[in-house]
Amino acid sequence: MNVAVVLVAAGNGERLGAGIPKALVEVGGKSLLAHALNSIQRFNPTQLVVVAHEDHIPEFESQVKANYQGEFAIARGGNSRQGSVANGLALVTEELVLIHDAARCFATADLFQSVANALANSDVVVPVVPISDTVKRISGSSVLGTEDRNSLRLSQTPQGFRTAALKSALSQAAQDFTDDAALMQSLGFEVESVPGEAGAFKLTTGSDLDRARQDFGSRATGIGTDAHRFSDSGELVLGCLSWPELPKLEGHSDGDSIAHAIVDALLSAAGLGDIGSNFGVDRPEFAGASGELFISETLRLIAAKGFEVENVAVQVIADKPKIGPRRAELEARLSQLVGARVSVGATTTDGLGFLADSRGVAAVATALLKVLG
Ligand code: CTP
Ligand code: MG
Repeated sequence: MNVAVVLVAAGNGERLGAGIPKALVEVGGKSLLAHALNSIQRFNPTQLVVVAHEDHIPEFESQVKANYQGEFAIARGGNSRQGSVANGLALVTEELVLIHDAARCFATADLFQSVANALANSDVVVPVVPISDTVKRISGSSVLGTEDRNSLRLSQTPQGFRTAALKSALSQAAQDFTDDAALMQSLGFEVESVPGEAGAFKLTTGSDLDRARQDFGSRATGIGTDAHRFSDSGELVLGCLSWPELPKLEGHSDGDSIAHAIVDALLSAAGLGDIGSNFGVDRPEFAGASGELFISETLRLIAAKGFEVENVAVQVIADKPKIGPRRAELEARLSQLVGARVSVGATTTDGLGFLADSRGVAAVATALLKVLG
């Protein structure tokens, strides 16, 4: 299907107040412009026009080049959104066009496709989502009544049009409308709706940006392994719990294989090396240190790099101790120390190797971290 996309990205983002045009603000290490281009690339239109902020044309142009494989044109922003749409539309040569706000940069390629498909049967298509809040009509501070929310929808972009009709509507427009479908409707066009996407919300204020950063923060996984042999004295500490029926594990520290595997997994996910490179024999203050201390020190290191733990999974490989009877206790203790869900499983080695004759305890852990901002 031959369809153009006009991406309007020329606004100042005054309500967001980032001091730069909103489309250049980053979520998860990528600008809103780049996120929007990502979906447009997957939708694969036959023409793309990006309407750029007039004080930042070179920056917009280089970002489009870096994030979009294909021909594109840059148009200059207007004084209002509608002005920007008109400037972008002037360059469109395809018969059908989708107008999209960079501020709704998380709309997916599927949404573009469903709007484009609906253009087969209508001149104007708008994606809409239901309202979950109760809606009041007010005057000043007085509530005049409650709207029937079942007949109300919130409108999103991309919105689809026959290019010629939208061009002619814009040339006749006597006022600024907040969306293009409203302009068309004011001129008597029938407007069809398709289901929108909750994720295609508009980033307007700082709290929208916080929400986007929470939702779209990128993630990193890590893995860690540790094994220690049993000594012939003392009392086992494993998973930061004591197991009085078994002797202590040997090691530079307390030999807590579970805690050490967790620490290695966290460090590996954050790209911070491993337990040896952070707390090795050259750090005498960690000689004999508890697993608890290693975990809290590691959490400090990964937080300083902007990471938050999403979850950790551990598998113990040992004949003894039996983990099952104390699994819930272990998971509760470790979850509390890590500040996120830690799950613990266990296995034996089917009679193979040193772990089979209860000579030691090994553990493997994976960690998932969230990168904030
Ligand atoms: N837009 C535009 N040209 C303008 C104004 C807005 O291209 N003169 C674009 C914005 O870049 C955005 C979309 O229209 O992608 C929706 O506008 P809005 O969310 O209001 O963004 P801003 O105008 O940038 O924000 P604010 O109103 O807070 O300044
Ligand atoms: Mg605006």
